[in-house]
Amino acid sequence: MITLITAGPTQEAIDPVRYLTNRSSGKMGYALAKAAARRGDRVILISGPTNLDIPENVDFIPVESAEDMYHTVEKYISRSDIAIFAAAVADYRPANLEKQKIKKDSDTLTLELIKTKDILGSVRKIFNYTGTLVGFAAETNNVEENARKKLEKKGCDFLVANDVSRKDIGFDSNENEVFVLTKNGRQDLPKDSKEHLAEHLIKIFR
Ligand code: PMT
Repeated sequence: MITLITAGPTQEAIDPVRYLTNRSSGKMGYALAKAAARRGDRVILISGPTNLDIPENVDFIPVESAEDMYHTVEKYISRSDIAIFAAAVADYRPANLEKQKIKKDSDTLTLELIKTKDILGSVRKIFNYTGTLVGFAAETNNVEENARKKLEKKGCDFLVANDVSRKDIGFDSNENEVFVLTKNGRQDLPKDSKEHLAEHLIKIFR
């Protein structure tokens, strides 16, 4: 079994020294990679910048931006039987990459942002992927309703939803509490370490 996993944040460059990013630590995605490797899968871990150690026995591919992650997923996904999208990909990036460091000449600075490519949303429609597809939904309100829309719109078999308005779970925490949606069902997994949750999730996806 070959499992592809995206993890961590992306960094969207503003100028040579500045970027836009988010609070993802990569812990959830790396825990999934470790759990799949422990089960004997070949794991392709595509990760944005994190401070975590690279898990053992995985093929590790570091990326920076949403655009890098898009092209890397495009290249490797057809080799996988299951693809799990735990990364917190930036939804917008600066429209222009300034070649020189921006000077602080004015009191205000307006950045124009443009949408990044929706990687998960491209998997069925553009990459023609036929394997098992798992998305995540990071929501702060109407969690089930919004997650179900993502499950359907992006053609996922499973959608793992977490409430990221909570400080004790989700982004940059060692623990998480999630529920898993399928077309006709919902399974709740109580609050636990990301490592334990990852073991349960990997079992659910097969
Ligand atoms: O990294 P940690 O600190 O451990 O935190 C874990 C987590 C909170 C980041 C993780 O559990 C999680 O929820 N990951 C998904 C974060 C996210 O960006 O969710 P979303 O609802 O905005 O996106 C929906 C899905 O589309 C996700 O599978 C995401 O990877 C994918 N996506 C989003 C935007 C984009 N341009 N391309 C994508 O593939």
